[in-house]
Amino acid sequence: MSTDTLHKNANHAQTAPAFLSVWDIHAYYGESYIVQGVSFNVHEGEILALLGRNGAGKTSTLRAIARVSDPELKRGEIWLDHQPLHNMASHQASAAGLALVPEDRRIIAGLTVEENLKLAQIAPPIGWSLDRLYDLFPRLGERKNQEGTTLSGGEQQMLAIARALARDIKVLLLDEPYEGLAPVIVDEIEKTLALIKAQGITTILVEQNAVRALKLADRAVILDTGGIVFDGTAAEVLDNAELRAEYLAI
Ligand SMILES: Nc1ncnc2c1ncn2[C@@H]1O[C@H](COP(=O)(O)OP(=O)(O)OP(=O)(O)O)[C@@H](O)[C@H]1O
Ligand SMILES: [Mg+2]
Repeated sequence: MSTDTLHKNANHAQTAPAFLSVWDIHAYYGESYIVQGVSFNVHEGEILALLGRNGAGKTSTLRAIARVSDPELKRGEIWLDHQPLHNMASHQASAAGLALVPEDRRIIAGLTVEENLKLAQIAPPIGWSLDRLYDLFPRLGERKNQEGTTLSGGEQQMLAIARALARDIKVLLLDEPYEGLAPVIVDEIEKTLALIKAQGITTILVEQNAVRALKLADRAVILDTGGIVFDGTAAEVLDNAELRAEYLAI
């Protein structure tokens, strides 16, 4: 189906077009063809788990959506709330309401927790206030004067998420937020992600810990070698032993 047809169908349908629509995206690192025609929709306020084996293309897909220059998006469309993102640079996609929390968290050295957050706020009161962020992450409030890079791994992940929320975002893109964290800390972050969802924010959650991600997510997309092998509800994945064994090793 062509993009024109897709949009025509979307216009003619009784239901509104998806909030975030990724349509047939193809992305390259130099000559390496990595994201090979990925399409999926994300509805407003839902949590979508983006899963798949190591090297399946999850990070590359998130980066392409966030309009990071590497990998280069050569074909396809990305729409957020009726705005086309595919021709935007990453700072424009960010202004349009997307926030990517990369796997390495990128806490700024030499700055306190609060300074890290204030730097991200840009133009309060458009973004979230510090009080609202500390309500969501009490641990960060308790440690607001501590240098960000001296936080524990879990606290740094919380700071990275809080920093993304400090702007007025619509979509949170999380790359393996549970990586390297103890189960009790993962429990805490999971509860916070549910609270973020309750505030109306849409999330794409990339996780190796598929069972955890599926417990929290409404829907799931599974990638394999740069293409989609499943798009459905999280419950369908949990109920499908074959799918779990083949693509998620669970
Ligand atoms: N900068 C790069 N240059 C060239 N190839 C890359 C680059 N980054 C990733 N790739 C390749 O792209 C493919 C997809 O990688 P990607 O990081 O998107 O996978 P992933 O699903 O996030 O994997 P993981 O679960 O290990 O994080 C892999 O084959 C990887 O080697
Ligand atoms: Mg990855």
